Amino acid sequence: MNIMVIGGGGREHAVIRKIKENPLASKIYVLPGNGGIARDAECVNIKATDIPSQVQFALTHDVDFAIVTPDDPLVLGAVDALEEAGIPCFGPKKNAAIIEGSKIFAKNLMKKYGIPTAAYETFDDMQEALKYLETAPVPIVVKADGLALGKGVTVAMTREEAVAAVKDAMEGRRFGESGARLVIEEFLEGPEISVLSLTDGETILPLSSSMDHKAAWDGDKGPNTGGMGTIAPNPFYTRAVAERCMNEIFLPTIRAMKEEGRPFKGCLYFGLMLTKDGPKVIEYNCRFGDPETQVVLPLLKSDLLSLMLAVRAGRLKNYKALQKEGCAACVVMASEGYPTSYKKGFELTIPESLWPDVYVAGAAVKDGKLVTNGGRVLGVTARAETLREALAKAYEKVEQIHFENAFWRRDIGHRALEPEE
Ligand code: AMP
Ligand code: GLY
Repeated sequence: MNIMVIGGGGREHAVIRKIKENPLASKIYVLPGNGGIARDAECVNIKATDIPSQVQFALTHDVDFAIVTPDDPLVLGAVDALEEAGIPCFGPKKNAAIIEGSKIFAKNLMKKYGIPTAAYETFDDMQEALKYLETAPVPIVVKADGLALGKGVTVAMTREEAVAAVKDAMEGRRFGESGARLVIEEFLEGPEISVLSLTDGETILPLSSSMDHKAAWDGDKGPNTGGMGTIAPNPFYTRAVAERCMNEIFLPTIRAMKEEGRPFKGCLYFGLMLTKDGPKVIEYNCRFGDPETQVVLPLLKSDLLSLMLAVRAGRLKNYKALQKEGCAACVVMASEGYPTSYKKGFELTIPESLWPDVYVAGAAVKDGKLVTNGGRVLGVTARAETLREALAKAYEKVEQIHFENAFWRRDIGHRALEPEE
């Protein structure tokens, strides 16, 4: 089977490693991939958002199945274009990817179908948003409606910060058109939980729960990043919480999407907060999370490619997503200065024995050598019986990987150890 994966980060590397466990995956192309993923798949120099070239490539290379993982091609309609050209795909169509592509859509969906989430108002007029803020309680959260590279959310501790965020988005157009409309919502408190699930629009199979670490520095300080590390499963996601999430959030969401004529097929990511009133949705993503995937897939016992094909065929009800015992931890090694500005082009040394646990996010091959080529460079995953052991093993591996300018958080998983103790 010739498989084409769209994307080129650590998440795509983890997806490719996992589908390679199935001998059916005889040939894997990745568009564009990166210098590290090149060890596991054939990289093709086509951008993740260049949909016409992807269609052309698939048609001329006998691609049997395409897996679209990043948010922007999904929101732009990559799956629609490929399916129209006769290429079966894993991933939601454009009309379902809007669950991530528009926060206003997502919030209105939750309101209409009674899915628990923070109370909110939406605005397309700056003066009205500013007027609302005059009397709204703080802290308060300001969110750009559209995709904003994970930077469209401001948790404002003061009214001034909230006003600045509104002006930045609506007047300064910091996120372009994505900030032309805003959601302003209630500030929620509690542990955060990510749940990635596979769904064909009827059946939903949650994979292992996980915990992301979005802040750049230790102690959850510093600017927001794409994610500096993850652990799975998330100890706050107890059996009782999981049951509530299934009944109050997961099933109602896929039913709501079907009811709206937007059946969701693919990986639906629930960003949840466990508040004192129960689990609430912070965000939906229409795709696998990064770096959640780098801990969730290593814990998946079932065959991912079979599950993905079942999602496409609408036959997921005949499948289970079985999990392995134990825990996983992933520590992201980044370039000093990320997410603001950083240097790249430094040689990477990775012991051969570690490669199966390394997921490369930003590296390129230059003069035959692997060099850094991004803010997040790679993630190192370890599995063990307990979370504490998995973390110790992951950090041991980090110490054996070298590149100039490397930095990583030293406290991944610390909050998750608290409930154990
Ligand atoms: P997002 O970009 O939607 O993932 O949001 C980024 C982060 O902002 C989340 O991971 C939360 O930590 C925080 N956040 C978003 N919405 C809220 C909220 N209503 N209350 C408190 N924190 C929030
Ligand atoms: N790690 C968060 C995300 O993928 O959006």
